[in-house]
Formats: sequence, structure tokens, C-alpha cells
Amino acid sequence: MNETKLHEFMGKFVTDMGGAFMMGMVLAGDELGLYRAMADHQPVGPDALAARCRCHPRLVRERLDANVAAGYLECENGGYRLPPEQAMALANEDSPVFVAPGTNVVASCFLDFDKLLAAFRGDGGLPWGEHHHRMFHGVEKFFRPGYRAHLTAAWLPALDGVVAKLEAGAKVADVGCGHGASTIIMAQAYPRSRFCGFDFHAASIDVARQRAAEAKVGDRVTFATAAAKTYPERDFDLICFFDCLHDMGDPIGAARHARGAMKDDGTVLLVEPFAGDGLAANSTPVGRLFYAASTMVCTPNSLSQEVGLGLGAQAGESRLRQVFADAGFTRFRRATETPFNLILEARA
Ligand SMILES: C[S@@+](CC[C@H](N)C(=O)[O-])C[C@H]1O[C@@H](n2cnc3c(N)ncnc32)[C@H](O)[C@@H]1O
Repeated sequence: MNETKLHEFMGKFVTDMGGAFMMGMVLAGDELGLYRAMADHQPVGPDALAARCRCHPRLVRERLDANVAAGYLECENGGYRLPPEQAMALANEDSPVFVAPGTNVVASCFLDFDKLLAAFRGDGGLPWGEHHHRMFHGVEKFFRPGYRAHLTAAWLPALDGVVAKLEAGAKVADVGCGHGASTIIMAQAYPRSRFCGFDFHAASIDVARQRAAEAKVGDRVTFATAAAKTYPERDFDLICFFDCLHDMGDPIGAARHARGAMKDDGTVLLVEPFAGDGLAANSTPVGRLFYAASTMVCTPNSLSQEVGLGLGAQAGESRLRQVFADAGFTRFRRATETPFNLILEARA
């Protein structure tokens, strides 16, 4: 036993445990408006902040201190201040890194913990629809800023010839669309195209329809409750899978179905969590986040479905390439990437 290494590990553990509690601080801050009320970057005292947000002042002060200790807030002139960089992540809904409500995913993992233990002790399956509603809401909020920042600006332009088709008027499927964030962003950018969102989770499809109506894109977007291997529509120019293929029980079957549902010169856009090939490459802060989420959410979801491949959120490009080769695609390439996502293109 090396005492220095033990101390190092305990330091790491305390940091991680504090981080886990900070997720609760962030979620409370988001839901109670405590970060948004500090978005002017001016120092504010606990009582004034509590009054602004109609919260209990003693709890507000304790939470402010926790945020300072974590480096999320600063103390200045006797008040507490949200610096502009932290405001982008925690208070500004239009920023490309607005992560605060995404912490709902973490909350759901703990609310669903007994179900996860049952999955470990049983057949490994925890179906998507059995999660707390904070999961569906959190996933939408976690991914949407990235889609808004990159999807039409970088990801679609990185595909071969797809933007020209979208501008002229294309038929697009968004498979495993969840609350339809990606579908609606594409529909807003390409009004001549038609978009069909599919997801096997009926409650998510209800929310997606609501979101499309709010965004006033109902004329070009339809949402239907359908599994990735059963939607009946055909002749798609583009079929998208956003952060969902690895969640599926049968990703090869889903890719094969996409091959049959797209035109011969069509394209599959596959957006997956960023990963290298293998554990050593993925032993990074981002890899750790995705492996843990994959254990609690993605892999048990896959294991609850037919085939139950359990690809996992850190499958990596080589494994994903094999999935598409097995499904009958002949071309597969990395179109682009971000620190959080691989953007892959598959063609017949
Ligand atoms: C992590 S969420 C991503 C949702 C959405 N694409 C987004 O990026 O916000 C995964 C989605 O895949 C859906 N899903 C999982 N397996 C599916 C299947 N076999 N058929 C259709 N949808 C599926 C889930 O219902 C869930 O909405």
C-alpha cells in the first residue's frame, strides 16, 4: 500500500463526491432561477438574491457558498458574482454551452437507481420509458445547445452534397428523435424540405409535436411513434440518428432498415458520443462521463430490447463502421467531430 497514492486517490474521490453534490446545486439553481437572476454579472447579496427568486435566504446563502467553493461563482465586494464564462454554461439559454438543465439526466439516474440495481441483478435491461421524466427533459436540454451550434453550421455541410438537397427540398428522417430538438432545428433552416421524426417512446413524441407547434414548423415536420426498424416511410434523402443508435437493441437492424428506407443516393448522418477506439483512448474526462452514463442509461436500454447488442456510448468509429458494413453500407467516414460528438456519414 502506497500512502501517497492513497492520499491522491482520496483527494480525487472528495472532488468527485463534491461534484456529484454540485449537480444538485446546479439543478436547483436552474429550476429556481438563481443563476439567471445573476446573469448581469453584478455582485449580489444572499438576501437580495433570495428576494429576487422568492427563495429562503438561509438556503440561498448556503448554496451560494457551495458555488464559490466549487469555482462556479466569485465573491466580490461582499457580494456573490456569476462571471460571464460561467453564465454561458449556467444562465444563458441561447449559449452553445448551456448545460445547467442537462443535469436533470444525473438527477434521473439517482431517482431510477433501484431500477438500475434490478437490471444489474437481472437481465441487464432498463427500458428508456421507465426512466423518470427528468431523463427525457434533461437529454433534450443537454443535447440541444450543441445541435443549435453545430448541426446546420458544420455537421450537415460536412456531408457530401446534402445541404444542396436540403435547400432544394429533401425528405429527411430523424430516427430516435426524442423531443425533436434536432428535427426542429433542421426544419427551421431548410423550409423546402420535409422532416419525419420517429421514436418508439410515445411520451417523447407527444412533447416533440408540442415543440414543433411552438416553433411554428408544423407545416414541414411530422412526428410518429415508431421503432427504428419498423417505420414504414421510404425514399428518404437523409436519415439521421442523433445520439441514439448505440441505445438501440439492434443497431445493425436499425441501420439495415435505414438502408432500405433511403434513396440509393441517400445519406445516413450518424451522430454519436465522441469516442476513440478502446478503453485506453477513452480514459479521459469526456470518456468517463459517457461510460458512466452508458452504464446507467444507454446500455441497459439496449439490453432491454430485441437482440440486445449493448453497443455502449463509447463504441468508437471502428465498431460503428462495422455496424454499417454489416447492414449493407459500402461507404463510411468521419465527416467531422466536436469534443463531445463523432459525426459520421454512411452511404450505400
Ligand atoms: C439519448 S436519447 C436521444 C434523443 C434525441 N435524438 C436527441 O438527440 O435529443 C435516445 C432516444 O432513442 C430512442 N430509442 C431508443 N431505442 C429506440 C428504438 N429501438 N427505436 C426508436 N427509438 C429508440 C429513445 O426513445 C430516446 O428518445
